Amino acid sequence: MAVIHAVLLFVFIQTFPVGVTSNEWWKGTIVYQIYPRSFMDSDGDGVGDLAGITSRLEYFNDIGVGTVWLNPVYKSPMADFGYDVDDFKDIDPIFGTMADFDELISKAHRLGLKLVMDFVPNHTSDQHPWFIESKKNKDSTNRYRDYYVWVDPKKNCSDPPEKCIPNNWVDLLGGTVWEWVQERQQFYLHQFLNIQPDLNYRNPVVHLEMINVLRFWLEKGVDGFRVDAVRHMYESEDLQDEPINPDYSSIRSGHVAYGSLVHSKTFDQPEVHDLIYEWRRVLNEYSMQSNYRFLTIETNDTHEILLPYYGTPSRPEADFPFNYGLTALSMETFTGSKVHQLVNDWMKDLPHDKWPNWVTGNHDCFRVADRVGIQYARALNVLNLLLPGTPKTYYGEEIGMMNTWVPFSKSQDSYAAIDPSHWKEYTRDPERSPMQWDRSSHAGFSTTIGDTWLPVNQNYLSGINVADQKADNTSALALYKKLAALRKDEPAFQTNHLKYVVVTEKIFSFLRMPDTPGLGSFLVIINAGTSESTDDYSAALMEGHQLKMEGNIGTITVSSNMDRDGVSQDMSKVSVAKGEALVVKCFC
Ligand code: NOJ
Ligand code: MG
Repeated sequence: MAVIHAVLLFVFIQTFPVGVTSNEWWKGTIVYQIYPRSFMDSDGDGVGDLAGITSRLEYFNDIGVGTVWLNPVYKSPMADFGYDVDDFKDIDPIFGTMADFDELISKAHRLGLKLVMDFVPNHTSDQHPWFIESKKNKDSTNRYRDYYVWVDPKKNCSDPPEKCIPNNWVDLLGGTVWEWVQERQQFYLHQFLNIQPDLNYRNPVVHLEMINVLRFWLEKGVDGFRVDAVRHMYESEDLQDEPINPDYSSIRSGHVAYGSLVHSKTFDQPEVHDLIYEWRRVLNEYSMQSNYRFLTIETNDTHEILLPYYGTPSRPEADFPFNYGLTALSMETFTGSKVHQLVNDWMKDLPHDKWPNWVTGNHDCFRVADRVGIQYARALNVLNLLLPGTPKTYYGEEIGMMNTWVPFSKSQDSYAAIDPSHWKEYTRDPERSPMQWDRSSHAGFSTTIGDTWLPVNQNYLSGINVADQKADNTSALALYKKLAALRKDEPAFQTNHLKYVVVTEKIFSFLRMPDTPGLGSFLVIINAGTSESTDDYSAALMEGHQLKMEGNIGTITVSSNMDRDGVSQDMSKVSVAKGEALVVKCFC
């Protein structure tokens, strides 16, 4: 007897229209993340740069992307490739000059694009002049003395002072957060690398300094910021040990891994919300004078911790905190019901008047095509771009770029060195390889006669490049463009309406509807299974809401395989191939 696996769900989520005012441009756009070292090299040194990005901006008009977010381009010794800043108000020479930046932003705006910068307020480089001064002494005459988190050696400790570590706190790499400075006879705190000392936000002057940084870039016209590492901004002043994490079992000996402690003293301290509100007020000043300035924050955490970053009506914070839920998907977990769970968890927890967003990959996690499997990469783009809310695309995801490995001896990312015997778990090099533009040498990324900073993935010669995919109307890029156009042209994708339809182990499907009935609704079906699935969608579509389907027939608007667009589809028997995503227009 046939077992019916289908779970029919008619869950109604909140609804409101998008893009009603120009202040809401960040709702209707796709945010495209550029890792500047890897996007386009203009000067042939093998490293991407600003002039390179400027030369490629037309690409975004072409594929339907409206917003570009740049990972840090500030002056930096590059120990963490720009997340170790030594001048927040200058451009690193590897990326070009301030004139190059000015050219980038003015061309972006000419082309109707928004430009979002990374803002890295938690720490500086240890080469920042503030830190160089701060570590000299703690004299009252030293104006930088309290710019960082300095702490005395633990009391009642009989060891030499540098061994009297204040407490058990560990940095993200698993070593102590405390670094001894002989000159000052104190420890400074770092939540990331030891060359990234944390700024001290209990010092009001640091607030003013960082507000000045924001103003500097806002005056240049940047359209918003992604704020780095916000959960690490404050630490508890009582300096008490963090409790041991009872759910953690160490896999490595001799290495105090980050997960071994519950970070109740070093994470998401309540003051952080005042800080985001403070920055929001600065952005609002500029939004009132000219274009709306957007704010998003980076913290990968539970919804309980994440959602308060939306702020409240009287104390607004981020337009949205990045939602990393979908980055949890892996080959083992990618199923229809798991995707439903991840989507629904976010949508049900989202405060009533807030806007959703989706992230599938970034510069800190393996490429989506490797995590979930190349045969599902297109379906992930369909999901990302057609769920309600703002999608974030990591460069290259639109053409299905994959991880690129280098041997340990050629690693660039300092995280690879954390634990040489487990470096493959830590390195972030694989997802940072150069953008693949065409079939020319170095995939059109660079004209260098030497090596590019990370090697180009050789699959650029087998179709994973922009030029080949542009010429092929069945490519992943052609699909991406079509999805971006649907978001722009179809009222159904400009609302926040979402109804789940059929959800099984293989299938996740949902309906998107316009505010005004009759303008066309779209059923989006993802097959996350390992074989074809044929299901009846008609009953679910008609029962849950008043869809009138002419003869039970819809029209396939897009198939992720780009091989049956425009074909009529009987909704009582829809077959979707393994890894395929379908968008079917149905009338109501
Ligand atoms: C989060 C960034 O995404 C990551 O790349 C960086 O290493 C840390 N913050 C430290 O800034
Ligand atoms: Mg260059």
